[in-house]
Amino acid sequence: MNIIVTGGAGFIGSNFIFHMLKEHPDYRIICLDKLTYAGNLSTLEPVMDNPNFRFVKLDICDREGVYQLFEEEHPDMVVNFAAESHVDRSIENPEVFLQTNIIGTATLMDACRKYGIKRYHQVSTDEVYGDLPLDRPDLFFTEETPIHTSSPYSSSKAGADLLVLAYHRTYGLPVTISRCSNNYGPYHFPEKLIPLMIINCLHDKPLPVYGEGLNVRDWLYVEDHCRAIDLIIHNGKVGEVYNVGGHNEMKNIDIVKLICQALGKPESLITHVTDRKGHDMRYAIDPTKIHNELGWLPETKFADGIKKTIQWYLDNEDWWQPIVSGEYQNYYEKMYKDR
Ligand code: NAD
Ligand code: DAU
Repeated sequence: MNIIVTGGAGFIGSNFIFHMLKEHPDYRIICLDKLTYAGNLSTLEPVMDNPNFRFVKLDICDREGVYQLFEEEHPDMVVNFAAESHVDRSIENPEVFLQTNIIGTATLMDACRKYGIKRYHQVSTDEVYGDLPLDRPDLFFTEETPIHTSSPYSSSKAGADLLVLAYHRTYGLPVTISRCSNNYGPYHFPEKLIPLMIINCLHDKPLPVYGEGLNVRDWLYVEDHCRAIDLIIHNGKVGEVYNVGGHNEMKNIDIVKLICQALGKPESLITHVTDRKGHDMRYAIDPTKIHNELGWLPETKFADGIKKTIQWYLDNEDWWQPIVSGEYQNYYEKMYKDR
């Protein structure tokens, strides 16, 4: 089995490549990644010498390059993680989100149509469903919840999802889509809540909580997400959407306090800053379908996963230090200086 994994130098894609090479040692994995600010080749160092692995630096919007790769590799499957993934950046500059997340998805699927494919899998997000109110804990996102987006990021992901389903209906492309809740774990880029708070804590820097910090996210350990995608691409029904999440809802402020406590830092580091524009209040996934159809359940409890994650950042300063001391500094200044 030859699988092209796009965006494999990023957070979830890299964890997925490690998972696949371990669980399916006879598969060949070809990682296609543009290496944007969020892509880090050093992440893939442990598998670079694996004869069943190939890295190709390429933009998913580069039609000629993508077609050439298909001619070289004859992939059986494509798993598309490549995306601009940060909501705050999409609020600053939506254009690149439309380009990569929508046009890039279409380009990959055109290659699949041209050369033939057993499965195209789109890694989507629960953010396509918009948000839920805080005072209705009985409500959850199911696969039938209407698409109702809030940010340029989630709109671009929803646009891509609609295209994927349209390519299935119009051209019969064998597609699946997964919509997962917030992931956490190793190799998470430090602009996102959990790694940002861990690293700021380690530097005794202020911990910038947007608004009151009452927004709720449904956190899933990244390895559980990777297992879910592995199951969907092998056993999922073509043309179907699968929600992925582990009923682990937490308020942002509670996550930040927990990180302070775990690292022995005072909560006085917490600084409430101006809220994100259009900030979604609550995400909560109903994972009944993937559980009933594919037998998936999360394996890592949050209490264990967050401990492992904090320990990973303590042990792997070599990975994040070059990131936070480079271009990231300018990003941080711009986003948080006068907030
Ligand atoms: P990330 O930002 O850490 O990584 C994205 C990767 O895509 C990077 O390696 C980057 O270089 C690459 N990339 C970006 N533009 C590209 C392009 N034009 N061509 C080729 N490669 C390109 O993202 P992540 O958090 O790992 O998310 C991966 C996917 O999962 C995304 O599609 C995201 O929407 C989705 N998702 C993320 C989460 C989460 O909590 N992080 C949850 C649900 C779904
Ligand atoms: O739900 C899935 C989505 O989760 C994915 O589709 C996105 O790619 C991924 O980035 C993530 O989106 P969020 O916006 O939920 O994640 P983020 O880590 O940016 O923020 C989590 C919450 O924390 C959110 O309510 C905003 C808040 N926050 C974030 C940062 C970076 C803060 O309060 N302070 C911060 O500095």
